[in-house]
Amino acid sequence: MQLTAIVVNSELINRFNRTNGAALMKFKSFNFIPKNCSMKYLKLALIVIFTCTVSMVKAGEGMWLPLLLERLNEKEMKSMGMKISAKDIYSINKGSLKDAIVSFGGFCTGEVISSKGLLLTNHHCGFDVIQNHSTLDRNYIRDGFWAKNNAEELVNPGLYVTFIVRIEDVSKQVLNGVTREMNERERQSLIDRNANEVLKAVKRENFQSVFIRPFFEGNQYFAFITETYNDIRLVGAPPSSIGNFGKDTDNWMWPRHTGDFSMFRIYAGKDNKPAAYSPDNVPYVPKRSLSISLDGVAENDFTMVFGFPGRTMEYLHSSAVEQIVEVNDPAKIAIRDKALAVIDEFMRNDEEIKIQYASKYASISNSWKKWQGEILGLTRSNAIAKKKTYEKEFQKRVDANPQWKSVYGSILGDLESAYGELKKYGLARDYFLEINSKIELFAFAGQLNSLVNAFEQNGEAGYRQQLDKVKLKLEELYKEFNATVDSRLFSVLIEMYLKDQPSEFVSSYASNLRNPQDAADMGIEKMTSMIYQESPLISNDKIRKLYLDKSPSEAVGLIKADKAVRLYLDMVDTYNKQVAAKLNPIQANINQLQRTYMQAQMDVMKEKKFYPDANSTLRLTYGNVKGYQPRDGVKYGFYSYMDGIMEKYKPGDYEFDVPEKLRALYEKKDFGPYGRNGKMTVCFIASNHTTGGNSGSPALDAYGNLVGLNFDRVWEGTMSDINYDPSICRNIMVDIRYVLFIVDKYAGAGHLIKEMKLVHPKKK
Ligand code: ARG
Ligand code: GLU
Repeated sequence: MQLTAIVVNSELINRFNRTNGAALMKFKSFNFIPKNCSMKYLKLALIVIFTCTVSMVKAGEGMWLPLLLERLNEKEMKSMGMKISAKDIYSINKGSLKDAIVSFGGFCTGEVISSKGLLLTNHHCGFDVIQNHSTLDRNYIRDGFWAKNNAEELVNPGLYVTFIVRIEDVSKQVLNGVTREMNERERQSLIDRNANEVLKAVKRENFQSVFIRPFFEGNQYFAFITETYNDIRLVGAPPSSIGNFGKDTDNWMWPRHTGDFSMFRIYAGKDNKPAAYSPDNVPYVPKRSLSISLDGVAENDFTMVFGFPGRTMEYLHSSAVEQIVEVNDPAKIAIRDKALAVIDEFMRNDEEIKIQYASKYASISNSWKKWQGEILGLTRSNAIAKKKTYEKEFQKRVDANPQWKSVYGSILGDLESAYGELKKYGLARDYFLEINSKIELFAFAGQLNSLVNAFEQNGEAGYRQQLDKVKLKLEELYKEFNATVDSRLFSVLIEMYLKDQPSEFVSSYASNLRNPQDAADMGIEKMTSMIYQESPLISNDKIRKLYLDKSPSEAVGLIKADKAVRLYLDMVDTYNKQVAAKLNPIQANINQLQRTYMQAQMDVMKEKKFYPDANSTLRLTYGNVKGYQPRDGVKYGFYSYMDGIMEKYKPGDYEFDVPEKLRALYEKKDFGPYGRNGKMTVCFIASNHTTGGNSGSPALDAYGNLVGLNFDRVWEGTMSDINYDPSICRNIMVDIRYVLFIVDKYAGAGHLIKEMKLVHPKKK
């Protein structure tokens, strides 16, 4: 808690000014004044005391709801350097920045950067699409792709983007009639009924949708009125050696040199409204597109990131954090260690497998690495001890207030014991989900089983209806499937499943397969080859010939007898009975306790500024461009340059190769208008509080111009989902000038640059 890192929060000072001296006494005795702070600075002006105290509100922390910025954040943002108003960011009466921001496919963020619907997001967000269009001889992963005109842009069935038209606080309506005395079921059914009424009553056009989401663990509710476009075409992507330079070695790390971007275009019907794909659709004309700054950023510059963060857990009980660090993260990491080693070996030795498994590998490895950073960060920053101190202060205040004591008195203890009960089931859940999802044989088994269910519920007609869906899904899955890779995965993961957990959680069918009662233990290897040799599930041809081409009743009989299907079903069944049945009520209880605890924190810890945990809704976060000190004696700058690409360059390497053309541009210092003083910047970092889902989010300068594209966080700070620490939590962005340089100079796609609006805010 350094004084310099703290921004005075004017709201808080206002609140303080309204209170009396007693409040100051309370603040002085309260644990959050850092030790070195309290003695040394008590004699200084009030404001300084406050600067220390207020360090609970950490500069950069928070993912804020755009419609509340004016009330909660505008003053602070301006004090940090913002030159526009909250209304320029979010307004329902006039065009605002939010009109240029989209949820990209529900898992990333994108932004409109031209009046012809040109959309920017990350390379890793577009990666599935890039992979789908790639073959061995048209390898867009390796070589990149650039459409020279609209006609060459590639269609992507299933991909969509969603704009937020308006956000409304509907807490009052949704919680109308809800009382503390209600049990959870009564509460939920009243909320559902209320929410339905709200959904019906919300004003919207027929091409718009609306959904309601809980905030603050269900203490508040907001409605989102949206517009979704379904014809999204791929415009361009750099080769992976630029878009994913440094791959998994560099992932979640600073310094970074990745040009993690790709471009799409939104298409609309002739009326500019959402329309299903049609060759007659036209480029969408947006309400707003972002201007792009060519001026770069300087240290301490104000920046904001606008997008759709997925999930954070900032208000957990310390015992929950402890479990993450000691139980859940380590278990998931260990399982993925094994899965990744298997896939990696195959990918390095086989070009086709490298394409097939590229996206799967990247996503398995992404969380695997993040969890490791998370453990490290939470440990180093003493997150658990800090939570405990906070809880102590909370309890002290609650105990001192009879009214609070009656409703919140036991909440911490209750949470602690509920997490105690959860522990072993939570671990079993992670084991099951991690292992089950990595073995693809089980995905096929799940598809086949859906046919059995359809047959048993709705006879032949049901079966045939389901069959079409299953065939399509299998087709898609088999494209990215290799039976040898999967059998290796099966053998290492089933071994963990069988050996590394209490027998109560292990499927007896699985144990019997390996170790039949009337025969000797056949061992994992033999069990694996038996399954993979016998089961037709390992190829689309076999599955069709041996199962799907038969009559429904015959097929159902065969599927039910298939060993792989039986194994899968027994594992699911064991999970449902032995894990989920026990875990769900505990989790429901925790959810309710956590909701009460959330409200309690807002009531009791008044000096703290609360923001709702991320839930994939539109948020704004703001901070300053800043390096950081990861550990003693080491200091990181905030910019990386192309010089760093060349330092990392390893010819022919899987992760660090650099395309010849890029090297040539670097040698000639041919950076066009995008470089500065013979140098080309690549990435930069700032203290914006971001998380998964913020990938592809625009980084905006003080005027709202696009300066960067968010794509990652730094290693020491990945824990910010649980414990944001302003001294080490940084988000990583590609400098927008590097994006333009690649598009223009490397890809020769200058026609795209012409669509954009480039500005020089610093030359004003
Ligand atoms: N860590 C970033 C995120 O969470 C980037 C992931 C893509 N890159 C990769 N090498 N897997 O999504
Ligand atoms: N790469 C992440 C994503 O895909 C964003 C980085 C983060 O988690 O902060 O959303």
